[in-house]
Amino acid sequence: MTPDLMEAGARTRAAHEARVATLSKGAGFGRPVADGEVVFTQGVALYVDGITVSFDGFKALNALSLTIDVGELRCIIGPNGAGKTTMMDCITGKTRPDSGRVSFGSNVDLLRLTEPQIAQAGVGRKFQKPTVYEPLTVWQNLELSLKADRSVRAGLFAKLSGAQRDRLDELLLLIHLKEEAHRTAGLLSHGQKQWLEIGMLLAQDPKLLLLDEPVAGMTDEETERTAELFLTLEGQHSLVVVEHDMSFVAALTQGRKKVTVLHEGSVLAEGLLSDVQNNEKVVEVYLGR
Ligand SMILES: Nc1ncnc2c1ncn2[C@@H]1O[C@H](COP(=O)(O)OP(=O)(O)O)[C@@H](O)[C@H]1O
Ligand SMILES: [Mg+2]
Repeated sequence: MTPDLMEAGARTRAAHEARVATLSKGAGFGRPVADGEVVFTQGVALYVDGITVSFDGFKALNALSLTIDVGELRCIIGPNGAGKTTMMDCITGKTRPDSGRVSFGSNVDLLRLTEPQIAQAGVGRKFQKPTVYEPLTVWQNLELSLKADRSVRAGLFAKLSGAQRDRLDELLLLIHLKEEAHRTAGLLSHGQKQWLEIGMLLAQDPKLLLLDEPVAGMTDEETERTAELFLTLEGQHSLVVVEHDMSFVAALTQGRKKVTVLHEGSVLAEGLLSDVQNNEKVVEVYLGR
């Protein structure tokens, strides 16, 4: 067994233990949360309410509030240092805000869960740098992620079921890596590694996907394909996309979706891209006047 497989096995086990801990300890607003028990019927996928994060007195987030609907694709823009990554850190449990609330669906209090429990509840995060298992093939990377899925009970070394193989084939098509299925992940281009990592997240069927600068370093063609991919995912997942590339944001919003502008840890503006781009306050913070 390779060290990678052992590490992946350990991660799967840790995720399982985290799930059991969530079930036994109870979480959320005074009620236990079991698999699939996140409540989305009110149409809200994520509710961030007045979160503040201070680093040595400096407020990286300052009473930040926003709501993401079920199935919504929301782009978040804002100058460097606006607090975009810190916001994702708070949603995924990496950073604890000093005050405020973060709720997943209408019932799960994310501030009471650990990072693995939040992932288990259905929040997937893509960091800027791709983190795939380079010595394994594309297929093996996806296979490991599928088997770490909270809803899949098969052991790590059990054979894939027919339905699971179909799911992997479907994912390969979606992320444009069908031809590369048996290629070592380390040999993929930067853009292809990013898609593989997105596929690995999707294999775990998250309800909410957080993507921090997903097209940084991609070619124009890769960027276009990534926009197509995200538009395909919209509706089935809620997506929060932090991005600097305005043509990418324009492709995602299609002239009709809301974008959120962060500045100094708060929402500076929210609305159609064309409107916020003409907003005087937004122009000022981007031009630094
Ligand atoms: N761990 C940390 N310690 C101290 N300051 C931090 C830490 N993380 C982020 N910051 C600061 O918080 C602010 C917001 O950072 P960040 O969320 O990374 O912004 P963005 O992703 O919008 O560029 C920045 O001024 C950054 O320097
Ligand atoms: Mg950032």
